[in-house]
Amino acid sequence: MTASSTLSVTELETERLLLRQVSGTDREGLIELFTDPEVRAHLGGPRPRPEVERMLDHLGTTHVPGSYAIADRETNEFLGGLWLDRRPVDVPGHVTEDGNELELSYALRRSAWGKGIAYEAAAAVLRAAADEMPDQPVVVVTQTANQRSMKLVERLGFRVVRTFEQFDAQQALGTASLYSFKA
Ligand SMILES: CC(C)(COP(=O)(O)OP(=O)(O)OC[C@H]1O[C@@H](n2cnc3c(N)ncnc32)[C@H](O)[C@@H]1OP(=O)(O)O)[C@@H](O)C(=O)NCCC(=O)NCCS
Repeated sequence: MTASSTLSVTELETERLLLRQVSGTDREGLIELFTDPEVRAHLGGPRPRPEVERMLDHLGTTHVPGSYAIADRETNEFLGGLWLDRRPVDVPGHVTEDGNELELSYALRRSAWGKGIAYEAAAAVLRAAADEMPDQPVVVVTQTANQRSMKLVERLGFRVVRTFEQFDAQQALGTASLYSFKA
């Protein structure tokens, strides 16, 4: 186990969802995720489609540890993405001196909002990480203006410990101990 490690399982199932690796059939959904002005409202704005296409061409469907496509369990339709990686030391917003904490982030297609899907996916990934990894702090950073995300952060059980400026916006830093997500 190294300081940069994250959850190693590549697939998880919940009541309604399949968390799996990205596949070629997710391409249009991923393009929508990066180009939709509503989804990107608190993430620096929509990216131009050609730029997103180039990025996807470059990344392909190689599995990145801690990176999950959220899919409908029945239909396998791509609903969004969820990431449990490490918060780089050289960006603001940390709860430990060394930084590099486990960091949760998520984005759903607009049509998947308001159904509890992000909560279900995040809770499953955090529970699996708690079963697999040593206890440690997990952080989540979200714009304070992002009301849906702020509600999700609280509902998952993160405590907002402070706010700070990044990307010309006020960000909330939420934290929880990984083991608080154990079943
Ligand atoms: C942040 C984001 C994932 C939140 O999505 P969300 O659907 O509001 O989040 P949740 O999964 O917690 O769902 C909660 C909503 O589902 C509703 N809901 C419906 N059925 C539900 C169920 N079975 N269980 C739980 N909630 C349910 C809740 O009432 C709540 O709706 P409300 O807020 O209108 O009252 C979404 O807005 C998004 O993708 N935003 C763009 C990306 C982004 O900004 N990411 C943040 C960077 S980390």
